[in-house]
Amino acid sequence: MNRERNVQRLLVTGGAGFIGSAFIRYLMTKTPFQGICVNYDALTYAGNLDNLIPVADDPRYRFVRGDICDESLVETVCGQYEIDTLIHFAAETHVDRSILGPQAFMETNVLGTFHLLEVIRRHPRIHFHHVSTDEVYGCLGETGSFTETTPYAPRSPYSASKASSDHLVRSYSETYGISTCISNCSNNYGPYQFPEKLIPLMIVNCWRGRPLPVYGQGHNVRDWLYVDDHAAALWLLLRQGKKGDTYNIGGNEERRNIDIVHAVAELVAEKRGLHPNELLRLITYVRDRPGHDYRYSIDSSKLRETLNWHPHHSFNQGLHATVEWYLNHESWIERVESGAYKEWIAQQYAL
Ligand code: NAD
Ligand code: TYD
Repeated sequence: MNRERNVQRLLVTGGAGFIGSAFIRYLMTKTPFQGICVNYDALTYAGNLDNLIPVADDPRYRFVRGDICDESLVETVCGQYEIDTLIHFAAETHVDRSILGPQAFMETNVLGTFHLLEVIRRHPRIHFHHVSTDEVYGCLGETGSFTETTPYAPRSPYSASKASSDHLVRSYSETYGISTCISNCSNNYGPYQFPEKLIPLMIVNCWRGRPLPVYGQGHNVRDWLYVDDHAAALWLLLRQGKKGDTYNIGGNEERRNIDIVHAVAELVAEKRGLHPNELLRLITYVRDRPGHDYRYSIDSSKLRETLNWHPHHSFNQGLHATVEWYLNHESWIERVESGAYKEWIAQQYAL
């Protein structure tokens, strides 16, 4: 067994996004972590410091606004806080945006990761955990699951940029001997997810009585994981993940998109005292996404068997909790939709 890493001075890139902020909230409230956690984030459209209000006053928490492509600022922050561990979430993450404009994906996901690795190369005492996606493996037919040895076959600019970043991380580990670990996770859902992704978009649109856009026939399948279960897996991997290794993380909860849309509509209808048909009639079949991956399914038995990780939320429990959260956080949705959270952040941090 690996000796457990003592994580004390942690740099989190992209900690104002959906999963990064869930990880920081998890770290602060669900683990015995006693060190310093520095959230390093450029605050793009997807970065929202509202997501960190629950921990903003915690003395263990710090925020630095910065771009991961700014190698010298990353290096300065690592020195200033004597960072021993870096967990890398920062990325452009939406497939549809990558189809419309791939450049930002190459800059942040490929070059940004390269710049972080260059800092680590000069400071090899820092352990580097790279948060990646199952989309690097491409697309499955009706059967089978991705394992850690499935050949990479990305099919969108987003997944190609993430695949490139994974290759860079592995190459730096092999070539320069730096301490790295990579995790490839399936689709996440939960509170604080930007409402451009399927589940929060459907919740918000049901709530507002707007059309529910389903790509193609809605038969594409994703394997869903509640975000707190991802955070728990990452905390475990930071401490016990084998140096130079890769781990798949997944919920083993495959669903067709159309079934998700039905489930969301039924839950929201129940909360609003409506008949489900009043929301189901909002379903609008729209033109399919180009190169739309048909099915993802992840085999996470390596993580389950070697480190005894298991998700604690079934899809039904997680979806209930998520719908409940959005319906109770109307002001968060309003601020995200109007972009007003950016003004608030600028005032708070004098940006
Ligand atoms: P997100 O889009 O919600 O957040 C991304 C964060 O990165 C934002 O806070 C943004 O401001 C920040 N950021 C973007 N460009 C930056 C830059 N150049 N410098 C510094 N910060 C920058 O993303 P997410 O859904 O939380 O995903 C986090 C990570 O997890 C990504 O690497 C993604 O590929 C991976 N992942 C996501 C999922 C999913 O279902 N969302 C599944 C598997 C893996
Ligand atoms: P998304 O949440 O964008 O995640 P990813 O593409 O990374 O898996 O989309 C999940 C699935 O939902 C995907 O098959 C595309 C589909 N989808 C829709 O049908 N309608 C939508 O409005 C969105 C955003 C996604």
